[in-house]
Amino acid sequence: MVSEITTTRVTFKVFRFNMETDYLPYYKTYEMDVTSEEVVLDILNRIKWEFDGSFSYRRSCRHGICGACAIKVNGKGVLACKERINDLIAMFGTELRFDPLSEKRAIKDMIIDKKDFWVKHEQVNPYLDSHIEEHPDMECAVTPAQAEALLDADYCIQCGLCHYSCPVIEINEEYIGPAAFAKAYRFNADVRDDGIDHRIDIINAPGAGVWDCVKCYECTQVCPKEVDPFEKITKLHNQVFEHGRALNNVATRHAVGFAHSIKKHGLLDEGELVRYSEGNLGVMKHVPVAIKMFTKGKIVLPWNMPKSENLDEIQKLVKSSSTAKF
Ligand code: SF4
Ligand code: SF4
Ligand code: FES
Repeated sequence: MVSEITTTRVTFKVFRFNMETDYLPYYKTYEMDVTSEEVVLDILNRIKWEFDGSFSYRRSCRHGICGACAIKVNGKGVLACKERINDLIAMFGTELRFDPLSEKRAIKDMIIDKKDFWVKHEQVNPYLDSHIEEHPDMECAVTPAQAEALLDADYCIQCGLCHYSCPVIEINEEYIGPAAFAKAYRFNADVRDDGIDHRIDIINAPGAGVWDCVKCYECTQVCPKEVDPFEKITKLHNQVFEHGRALNNVATRHAVGFAHSIKKHGLLDEGELVRYSEGNLGVMKHVPVAIKMFTKGKIVLPWNMPKSENLDEIQKLVKSSSTAKF
């Protein structure tokens, strides 16, 4: 059955800025009738073609392949050529605000300077680092299972949506960021690659590396290609342990404490996890929160920590699935 095309009157509030002439950005409002068939890129085109020829944005393929058209609508990162206006209306109503991916990097309207994104990308050696025989006797075959290990990390189109939606990128210039981490994983997981040691040095660095991720999951939610950068970050955490390269810091102790608690109780002992991660002195600063959690029944005293009924099974599972060296 062919669905009927509907039309809705929508108000678009659009970020405008020209770094060559404007001191500050401003918003311009455009009203238009939008059909249920249109995507955000159609509206960007119509603003340019019907209202203001100087309006600027990036686009190329119009098929979700090149990654050029990423912007934010009402704060949500979208690929303009894939995001249907009707879906946005269902989410936000008929007043939609268009912003560039990062206001502080705006050059002209929706166009931003993505230099930091590419610098971070370059930082993780995003290529096969391999000692290849110049004249091999036979092909270097990769089995389907080995190719599967790359997971979906290979689908990245470098749109920058995850990078510019990441809260850590906003406040920490050193942080490498989710897209580059996904790329690091993509090559670390490749059986033909010999560069994992060097990449682990990079992604394990305090401040810049994977331990500064705050696990907000935003990168995974916003990714239009289902790369799931957060999953790749957790796999990089594992690689750091598997290669015996974990540094002794709060984040790594947190991971170890987590595994320790599950092995011991089959459950997460929140109080012990804090002590494990931050030490006895560190616990002191959490006492007010701990008291509140205790009164609400969220944590128990250490000697009252229950054990899971299936502790044996859980311990076997942990043993069989754990590859990390703590
Ligand atoms: S999960 Fe980590 S990398 Fe992803 S957006 Fe949140 S802080 Fe950034
Ligand atoms: S991981 Fe996803 S959101 Fe991030 S740059 Fe690649 S395709 Fe875009
Ligand atoms: S124009 Fe290429 S991804 Fe949108």
